[in-house]
Amino acid sequence: MATSAPERRREPVYEFDYVSDPAIIADVHEAYWQLKQKAPPVFWTSAHGGHWVVTSADAAIEVLRHPDRFSSRFLSIPPNPQQPRMIPESLDPPEHRPYRQLLRPYFESKAIEPLEPRIREWAEQLIDGVAAQGECEFVDALGSRFPVSVFMELFGFPLEQFDFFRATVVEYFNAQVAMERRMELTMQILGTLNALLEARRAEPQDDLVSKLIAAEFEGRQLDHEELMSICFLMFLAGLDTVVNALSFGMRHLAHDEALRTRMIEDPASIPGIVDELMRRYTFVSTPRYITQDTEIAGTKVYEGDSVLVPLHMVGWDEKLTECPAEVRLDRPHCRHAGFGSGVHTCLGIHLARLEMTVFYETWARKIGHFRTSADQHLVYRGGSVQALEALHLEWNT
Ligand code: HEM
Repeated sequence: MATSAPERRREPVYEFDYVSDPAIIADVHEAYWQLKQKAPPVFWTSAHGGHWVVTSADAAIEVLRHPDRFSSRFLSIPPNPQQPRMIPESLDPPEHRPYRQLLRPYFESKAIEPLEPRIREWAEQLIDGVAAQGECEFVDALGSRFPVSVFMELFGFPLEQFDFFRATVVEYFNAQVAMERRMELTMQILGTLNALLEARRAEPQDDLVSKLIAAEFEGRQLDHEELMSICFLMFLAGLDTVVNALSFGMRHLAHDEALRTRMIEDPASIPGIVDELMRRYTFVSTPRYITQDTEIAGTKVYEGDSVLVPLHMVGWDEKLTECPAEVRLDRPHCRHAGFGSGVHTCLGIHLARLEMTVFYETWARKIGHFRTSADQHLVYRGGSVQALEALHLEWNT
């Protein structure tokens, strides 16, 4: 039975604002590291209407592996009941499973590998565009553009729309954009997805959208709402993540000469570098909605509360990883939850890894060593998907 409101004791309390804590804006990974060191493994904060936060790997895994008690139905804190379904991410089992099974074949490594030559061409084209300059603002010039090209290719967007699409995407994910403008951009994106669905219904092509339209799902075809929901989630999931992983990775590489040299001289080490950088610079804190009174690692939590799971905590646990603050390639296993854990583990994991590997390989070959510009003041974005707002890089031409 649910505990009545006056009897609910939400303890221990530790104040932490995952969106705009000044420490997050100053350096998001340092802020989460301090949280891991100083905060209790499970705590209550009054920020954003009040919610729980977990800071140990055990507590994080417990939440992620029990969707029966910790639901994905609201992907925000505070929960937004108006939020449309995001298939499959906002669905819980058993509803989640058939959608996941439907989508899985399109994201398995054997479906993703054939995209490699095109991904390589995009990386080369973008890096060639800045190579002679000897400097660039990485997030704008490369990081935010590269996944857009890959996404358009995969989904079958006409490439004549690239400039429009890229501009919309770059603005959409810019944290400074006002709420009304973001709504306009959302409508624009939904309009573009809708037009693509209509075009592929009329004339199917060899792309993901055409395949999803034709797919058989529980003895029928997906309806329009389902298709739009899947496409919009892919848009959010695929475009605002790879850019952040690359930006945090490039920031580290700029300061770690030994690792950079390894990347340049030994391309076979790059997939390992990609994973170790994902572990050290995990950047997703995912929310869950608590569906019954229960405990997380011995702390009582209540039905109707939300809990934030910073995925960083899994890869930073000393029990799983020796000296987790260090970036090392000689670890026997690189354990982390940068791509999630449990039923919602990232569906785009092979695509994301391939994009990052190809990007670093191409950069190593075409540009080689690089550094951050001396006088820059880095600014970070908090929230559920954390980002570096800008990163000025320089290299010798
Ligand atoms: C470095 C890049 C990426 C990172 C760090 C990342 C991270 C994640 C995480 C942490 C989750 C689980 C969220 C949760 O448990 O609530 C997730 C789910 C998901 N991701 Fe990714 N992602 C990346 C790239 C991509 C790409 C490129 C795509 C596809 C275009 C993609 C598609 C998805 C989908 C569809 C889900 C939902 C899976 C489900 O609910 O079953 N992701 N991702």
